[in-house]
Amino acid sequence: MRIPCAYANWKMNKTLFEALDFVYKFVPGLFSEIKEGSIGVTIFPPAPFIWPMRQELGESSPIFIGAQNIHAEKEGAFTGELSGSIIRSAGATHVLIGHSERRNIFGEDNAMIAKKLGRALRDRIIPILCVGENLRERESGKAKEIVEEQLAMAWEGQEVTGGALIAYEPVWAIGTGKNAEPKDAQAMAEFVRDWVARYFTPETAGTMRILYGGSVSPENISNYAKLPDIDCALVGGASLDTKAFLEIAKAIAKAGPGGAV
Ligand code: PGA
Repeated sequence: MRIPCAYANWKMNKTLFEALDFVYKFVPGLFSEIKEGSIGVTIFPPAPFIWPMRQELGESSPIFIGAQNIHAEKEGAFTGELSGSIIRSAGATHVLIGHSERRNIFGEDNAMIAKKLGRALRDRIIPILCVGENLRERESGKAKEIVEEQLAMAWEGQEVTGGALIAYEPVWAIGTGKNAEPKDAQAMAEFVRDWVARYFTPETAGTMRILYGGSVSPENISNYAKLPDIDCALVGGASLDTKAFLEIAKAIAKAGPGGAV
């Protein structure tokens, strides 16, 4: 059974006070859904907030905290970087890998992303591997080819999934207010699941959760939450607002895994 999930990527936003205030308001709002286990929530705040947010939530809270980035090496002279053991010891259980902003602004290529994925797997941090095509690639009919290349290069040589999730985020839909057509998002999620079935096993593909990301909002989430191969959403802009993210999480919980319930 794939538990639906709502993941919040805060990027480089909020102060510590605002992050703690979000926890204070968000948790009670989702109480019944979390208690019933009908939704999984992970928040990816700026790195310095991981530990204080974990403390504010309490050790037994079912809400997870993740890191937005990880360095490929185990440790060493890498000023400004964060290792797997650093983020894990601060309370992060999940990490975003291959986000399009890391790929496009910070020049991370598929080879670098593969190393980071390997690091997360070795350090036992659950990776959320982000894949997606840009507008030119979509318009030239190459979207699936690009996504397949991103998947294949990231997982090359890796034999375990480490509980990984895969986020399909078309680059042109991130932070732009333009959404993927639900039928296109479903087609790509199905393509990703088929790839996982071929690379790993059909059982692994059946249990792996796939997220859609790209301008998700309370107004459009129901279009995606009901799709059979989309279980979860990775939310950027709308996750900064407690009320909007609560509405999104509730809509996902209501739709159930892959929109099945
Ligand atoms: P967005 O961001 O919801 O603001 O489009 C999504 C993401 O970057 O993961």
